Amino acid sequence: MIENEGIYEISDDLLELFTDLMMTVPKRPEAGGPPLKPCFKSYCLDRNCNKVVTVMEEQTTISSGTTGLRTWEASFWLAEYLIAHPDLLSGKNVIDIGCGVGFLGISCAMLGAKKVVLTDGNTDVLTMAKENIGYNSVTCPTTASLLDWENFTEEQITALEAEVLILSDLTYDPTNIVPLVTVLKAILVKGVSAYMSSAIRNPQTFVDFFARIKGECQGLEIQEIPLDSVEHLFFFDEDTVQTVKVFHLFFP
Ligand SMILES: C[S@@+](CC[C@H](N)C(=O)[O-])C[C@H]1O[C@@H](n2cnc3c(N)ncnc32)[C@H](O)[C@@H]1O
Repeated sequence: MIENEGIYEISDDLLELFTDLMMTVPKRPEAGGPPLKPCFKSYCLDRNCNKVVTVMEEQTTISSGTTGLRTWEASFWLAEYLIAHPDLLSGKNVIDIGCGVGFLGISCAMLGAKKVVLTDGNTDVLTMAKENIGYNSVTCPTTASLLDWENFTEEQITALEAEVLILSDLTYDPTNIVPLVTVLKAILVKGVSAYMSSAIRNPQTFVDFFARIKGECQGLEIQEIPLDSVEHLFFFDEDTVQTVKVFHLFFP
């Protein structure tokens, strides 16, 4: 606390120390500073911080050859929507595909899901996701397991017992569209409702994804969810906010 107890003034000593620390922020690696280490980040799921998700994550965009070792902005938008609509998760088995470090799936475990399975195809990412589950007081069974969209079995999908599927920031790589649609189809045809958030970086990749999924999944409903009235709980860097969209995908 920077305030002196019982005296309603800012402590000069603490303020000076705080200012010094602000001035000595280490240089970013791109400016010649040392490599950034992974760090713990805590995200409050409500204004009073009654529900907090803590995850260990990298501070760089790509680390060890994967994008999965940090939390991506699209997942904050989907989390805010789910926080505003807990009924969508309440008492449901939730599956997160391409879970990354696990922020979104762990959030669902705190928002009333019956069971949550985080899945990813990268074993380093999965190891971090498993550790991150352990850092949190989840109130339902929450596990992490391998699900590679290029190499999965029907038995694996059935064993997930999915009722709600969540996925965030997976439509960025043109080479991943075919396997992603393949695994989505395998899950959605079981009557699962999916909530997907995407950062639109390359509009063509996004167009190709929708063309592919509409072609493969005849009759699939895809509804864009308006986010105007959803309360922002997480901090966004105004300079890096990309166009994020959230969709509901389901077979009626
Ligand atoms: C951009 S990150 C998104 C992570 C997380 N959903 C988020 O929004 O923070 C993409 C994730 O998809 C996973 N992924 C990419 N290709 C995959 C595949 N073929 N099978 C399973 N997971 C894959 C990566 O390992 C990574 O964790």
